[in-house]
Amino acid sequence: MKKLMYGWGIIFIAGLLLIGCEENYFVSPQEDKSNVENNDKEVPDKILDPEQKEEDDSPKEKDSEQENDQNNTDNNQSENDSGEENNQENQDSNGQQKEQNQQTDEPIVVDNPTSLQVIVNKQRSVPAGFQPPNLVEANVSYYAEEGSPKRLLRKEAADALEKLFNAAKKDGLDLVAVSGYRSFERQKQIYENNVAHYGQEHADRFSAKPGTSEHQTGLAMDVASAALTAVLEQSFIQTDEGQWLADHAHEHGFIIRYPEGKEEITGYSYEPWHLRYVGENIAGDIYQDQQTLEEFFGLYP
Ligand code: DAL
Ligand code: ZN
Repeated sequence: MKKLMYGWGIIFIAGLLLIGCEENYFVSPQEDKSNVENNDKEVPDKILDPEQKEEDDSPKEKDSEQENDQNNTDNNQSENDSGEENNQENQDSNGQQKEQNQQTDEPIVVDNPTSLQVIVNKQRSVPAGFQPPNLVEANVSYYAEEGSPKRLLRKEAADALEKLFNAAKKDGLDLVAVSGYRSFERQKQIYENNVAHYGQEHADRFSAKPGTSEHQTGLAMDVASAALTAVLEQSFIQTDEGQWLADHAHEHGFIIRYPEGKEEITGYSYEPWHLRYVGENIAGDIYQDQQTLEEFFGLYP
């Protein structure tokens, strides 16, 4: 009798373990990723922030020497909100600043955070408490609920986004705006969440430290294909919408800010969904020469 009970006991425990597996107690990284890539509107309990969705994009390892070189940048980019900026002026002021920032790994604080051509990256932060002027919603499709700051952009960028989305629609493509403006606090949450989830080294390849995200300028919007819900991952470039964006964003003043193969310059892995408004002339030049914003303004090398 004792033996019989012992046998049943083992079967019972084995059954419990099996149920545990079914409940995803043992999730492979791949399965885990599929959870974070779905649209958070449909299954909010399973979803992390859109900026956390590049989990297994296998970005190239960053070259730390390169990063140190990039620290030699400026905070003196000239201000010009009227549209296109004088590239030569930027290059001159950047050169001056190179000498001033050789000693520190801390980002310098830009003095032109409201410029439509401001460069914010790992080496260049917006000032503490910076709040972009004229944040508005664009008249486009959004995932975020009404009233969400994720729907906001600077007026100039919002107007351009509308034109971009309308042009896509004319070509039969449905884009959706996923994540625009973020406050310092919001970026801090996202970054810290990513670090907790993926470790700092990995997180730093796709998530900006608070203060250094372009989303804080009100000039960046993450865009997805409506058919794919709010998925932000590199395979976006394989969709018609992703390819269309790569080919046409510049016509409306946007650049693909973190291009493939430029990870060491931008500091981030490829993000085919992250649009940055810079104005049509600069966007056109950057598209034509297949440059990054850093290269265009002479911050690299
Ligand atoms: N994913 C971009 C780099 C950001 O966090 O702003
Ligand atoms: Zn983004």
